[in-house]
Amino acid sequence: MSEQTTLAQQFPAGFVWGVATSAYQIEGAANEGGRAASIWDTFSHTPGKILDDSNGDVACDHYHRYAEDVEHIANLGLDAYRFSVSWSRVQPDGRGAWNEEGMAFYARLISALAEKNISAHMTLYHWDLPQALQDDGGWLNRDTAYHFAQYAREMAARFGDQLASIATHNEPWCTANLGYGNGQFAPGVKDEVAALQVSHHLLLSHGLAIQAMRTQNKKAKLGIVLNQWTADPATDSAADHAAAAWEYARSVQWFMDPIFRGHYPALALAKIDQSRFIVLPGDMEVIHQALDFLGINYYFRAYVSTETPPRQPETKLGLTDMGWEIYPEGLSRLLIGIHQEYKDLGLPPIYITENGMAVADQLDGEQIHDTPRIDYMQRHFQEVAKAIEAGVNIKGFFYWSLLDNFEWNSGYLRRFGLIYVDYVSQRRIWKDSAIWFKGFVQRFRGRVG
Ligand code: FCB
Repeated sequence: MSEQTTLAQQFPAGFVWGVATSAYQIEGAANEGGRAASIWDTFSHTPGKILDDSNGDVACDHYHRYAEDVEHIANLGLDAYRFSVSWSRVQPDGRGAWNEEGMAFYARLISALAEKNISAHMTLYHWDLPQALQDDGGWLNRDTAYHFAQYAREMAARFGDQLASIATHNEPWCTANLGYGNGQFAPGVKDEVAALQVSHHLLLSHGLAIQAMRTQNKKAKLGIVLNQWTADPATDSAADHAAAAWEYARSVQWFMDPIFRGHYPALALAKIDQSRFIVLPGDMEVIHQALDFLGINYYFRAYVSTETPPRQPETKLGLTDMGWEIYPEGLSRLLIGIHQEYKDLGLPPIYITENGMAVADQLDGEQIHDTPRIDYMQRHFQEVAKAIEAGVNIKGFFYWSLLDNFEWNSGYLRRFGLIYVDYVSQRRIWKDSAIWFKGFVQRFRGRVG
């Protein structure tokens, strides 16, 4: 039996295999079909913010090429597709009138997926806030949470019966800490204390959105997608251990505890600057909603050192083209830890909603030999299988990403796709990893020995 078959057989029947993308990273058509600007349009058009001075105006032109892209997912033999909605495409001002032309695009996409028997997993917010809401303070303004809930209700009402799932937010940690903390992402604010308030409004908007979507009684499972990591102390010193515990509390538990326990982690609360942190009575109850699934995105671990300069991990498997440590075993440790910590608190089934690797892919004729990506996938699948074996309820895995795309402040310089995109011709070319993934899923289904 091949190694691939042995690995494929470790996953339970019904396990879902898919790919993920997000609106601003692939759609393009930034000024078409009644779409208004989002904070990522403004940010990427601001000189100096994006590594290659690019933007998402055209990106992968998915808005026009969605049918071809769905065809690729079908040809890969995958069960599921995770995508996000550009809020300013369906509601240009983030409040008030719906843009029917924008809605029609997502209706077309969802029916194209249905025709191919690919289940559709929608994310409502993958970082692209309508600029009109930013002009009123963005996520620092509590009202944004209420506008988000209206938008969520509308999307659930219209599409909820054709979707397998709806996630409120993608990686609110990033929205808060990169968008408002260090300013690397839109809207580019550098104010760590403001970032705390933003994270509270994001959580509040999540709870309000779940409540609003529940009233629609649709088939779609409802949840949220969080980016998570293990926080590993660099040494056995008490200082490193304490710093790692703080890091875990401030990142993973900061979002998990409000959702599953109804309060912020005490360890983090005790240390943060609460001078501008406002939680109104009743907020925590709103955030503490039962969920149908939890999406976890995993890319790397946090390696926590209190020394100056900080100790670096050994990086036995090297770094990705993003400079991220390749650390597959962090994934199983994270999943098992989350399971143990939250299983009695209503932890729902888990999907790995993102995991993947940037490689400096080179075209070799019509091929791309991305062996490191195949190795990365194999190793991470192995860790998911290990977590399932240990009793963690994991229902599916979405590779990030279907296509090379606009990698936020890295522009088009970092390629995560299974499919290579030639941005000049918009040609899609399968990498070796795409061929490998297809073969893997076929083996999983028992179609190849
Ligand atoms: C995640 C984002 C996704 C992509 C990957 C590489 O944090 O959710 O859009 O940028 O990283």
